[in-house]
Amino acid sequence: MATTKALLFLGSVFLFCSLIGASRGHGTRRSLLPIPNRGPAIFDVTKFGAVADDKTDNIDAFRAAWGEACKNSTTHAKVLIPAGTFRAAQTMFAGPCTSPKPITVEVMGTVKANTDPSEYVSPEWFTFQDIDGFVLTGKGVFDGQGAASWPFNDCKQTKGNCAPLPSSLKFYKVNNSMVTDITSLNSMQFHFHLHGCSNVSLSNLNITAPGNSPNTDGIHISASDRIKVLNSTIGTGDDCISIGHSTTDISITNITCGPGHGISVGSLGKRPEERSVNGVTVTNCTFLNTTNGARIKTWIGTVPAEAKNITYQDLVMNGVHNPIVIDQSYGSKMLRAPSTSVWKISNIHFRNIKGTTVSNVAVSLECSTRNPCEGVEITDVDLTYAGRLLINTTFASSCFNAKAIFGGILNPPPC
Ligand SMILES: *[C@@H]1O[C@H](CO)[C@@H](O)[C@H](O)[C@H]1NC(C)=O
Ligand SMILES: *[C@@H]1O[C@H](CO)[C@@H](O)[C@H](O)[C@H]1NC(C)=O
Ligand SMILES: *[C@@H]1O[C@H](CO)[C@@H](O)[C@H](O)[C@H]1NC(C)=O
Ligand SMILES: *[C@@H]1O[C@H](CO)[C@@H](O)[C@H](O)[C@H]1NC(C)=O
Ligand SMILES: *[C@@H]1O[C@H](CO)[C@@H](O)[C@H](O)[C@H]1NC(C)=O
Ligand SMILES: *[C@@H]1O[C@H](CO)[C@@H](O)[C@H](O)[C@H]1NC(C)=O
Ligand SMILES: *[C@@H]1O[C@H](CO)[C@@H](O)[C@H](O)[C@H]1NC(C)=O
Ligand SMILES: *[C@@H]1O[C@H](CO)[C@@H](O)[C@H](O)[C@H]1NC(C)=O
Ligand SMILES: *[C@@H]1O[C@H](CO)[C@@H](O)[C@H](O)[C@H]1NC(C)=O
Ligand SMILES: *[C@@H]1O[C@H](CO)[C@@H](O)[C@H](O)[C@H]1NC(C)=O
Repeated sequence: MATTKALLFLGSVFLFCSLIGASRGHGTRRSLLPIPNRGPAIFDVTKFGAVADDKTDNIDAFRAAWGEACKNSTTHAKVLIPAGTFRAAQTMFAGPCTSPKPITVEVMGTVKANTDPSEYVSPEWFTFQDIDGFVLTGKGVFDGQGAASWPFNDCKQTKGNCAPLPSSLKFYKVNNSMVTDITSLNSMQFHFHLHGCSNVSLSNLNITAPGNSPNTDGIHISASDRIKVLNSTIGTGDDCISIGHSTTDISITNITCGPGHGISVGSLGKRPEERSVNGVTVTNCTFLNTTNGARIKTWIGTVPAEAKNITYQDLVMNGVHNPIVIDQSYGSKMLRAPSTSVWKISNIHFRNIKGTTVSNVAVSLECSTRNPCEGVEITDVDLTYAGRLLINTTFASSCFNAKAIFGGILNPPPC
């Protein structure tokens, strides 16, 4: 089945290439090209046959517009998806582009995904790949229509046998680029997934899915460096932002997160190829009713690596379950057994974190017996317990194998 789909996919790419070749030969597309002016050349998808009827699959029109903009424009190019509701199956916008940098995709309308997971040959809906200098912008919406497929991605319901559903927007080997203003609604799996990217900034995003939608991380970043996420509102069913393996220099600021599972580094170490994380700052963020706030999580793992130089600072927690968490037993089936993780966590700072929590253990540092956490600073963590204190429980911090340095105002008291 998968092979047939893959062949069909390759077949349509080939067909598309032949069409480009044919039309180039006859110059039939000339009339579609805009009159050059000071602004970028606009490649409006409706001029390439896209129909905003919420029904037609517009993938061929999208590909044709991208192909012209990326491979044939001699001036700055912008692909425009105007107002209206456009359906699109699995789509790839791939470089390298020969048009001047940057190339822009502006989305004003709503783009809706196909809901049948078997129509996807790989786990992403839109892929932007091999582009140096890319701008994705606009007030538009990418609607993953995830509700139809979420039941197939709930590992609890399917006993761990959960198929990887498509991420809405995958960025693969995209460098020196920007994403602004876009709304991502109800992704099937991750909303945004950056892998192999360098120097990308994402700002003013609106990411929305229900709090109980499975694995709908807002932004997942892996194998990337110099990524900034700022000025955005994220409410979803999993981590608002998750920073995966092999990442350096990630900065996150001014995010409102909730519902969701917080802003996490990890989970790390599930697979042997995962390399270290160095340099993450999370500042000026607000968490509303999230299950976690600032969290670092590793599996037991098999290949040693490190998570280091991580700062969570100037955060507000509102009704958060676990505001500060280091968990090195992630995914472990042995509940409550001490972690023996091969990952080393060090040089971690939690500073100026205020607000309310609904868990009596508001600070939980559970590190590896093999690699105790080193250089964990907890300064000015001032949380108020807003839940019901059960008899014989106290509002506390909990530490295992963690060399923590406490300072400033501390509520709960240090361990
Ligand atoms: C590529 O651009 C040139 C000039 O801008 C134009 O004449 C030609 O028709 C375009 N090719 C296609 C396939 O549209
Ligand atoms: C992006 O940068 C990485 C290295 O940082 C490089 O391997 C990749 O080829 C670059 N991609 C493009 C499209 O320039
Ligand atoms: C990073 O990307 C931005 C575009 O988003 C670009 O203006 C800037 O020059 C890039 N920085 C470096 C160091 O290349
Ligand atoms: C985000 O998008 C959703 C769905 O379009 C909308 O209901 C909500 O008001 C938006 N939120 C913000 C902060 O713009
Ligand atoms: C983020 O918001 C601040 C305050 O409104 C603004 O100064 C800054 O330019 C914004 N940054 C981006 C990249 O949108
Ligand atoms: C934070 O981001 C919001 C948009 O989500 C923006 O309106 C606000 O100005 C930003 N504030 C700061 C201090 O950057
Ligand atoms: C810590 O991370 C920052 C980027 O967030 C980086 O500039 C700095 O060099 C890192 N420090 C060390 C000791 O690696
Ligand atoms: C954090 O927020 C405060 C108050 O809203 C603002 O003064 C400060 O500039 C912000 N810092 C960053 C890095 O956005
Ligand atoms: C947070 O949860 C409380 C209690 O369940 C509820 O009253 C409140 O409206 C929620 N706040 C948000 C921002 O969802
Ligand atoms: C609470 O702790 C005290 C002293 O350890 C003990 O005597 C009492 O039975 C406990 N109460 C409950 C309900 O567990």
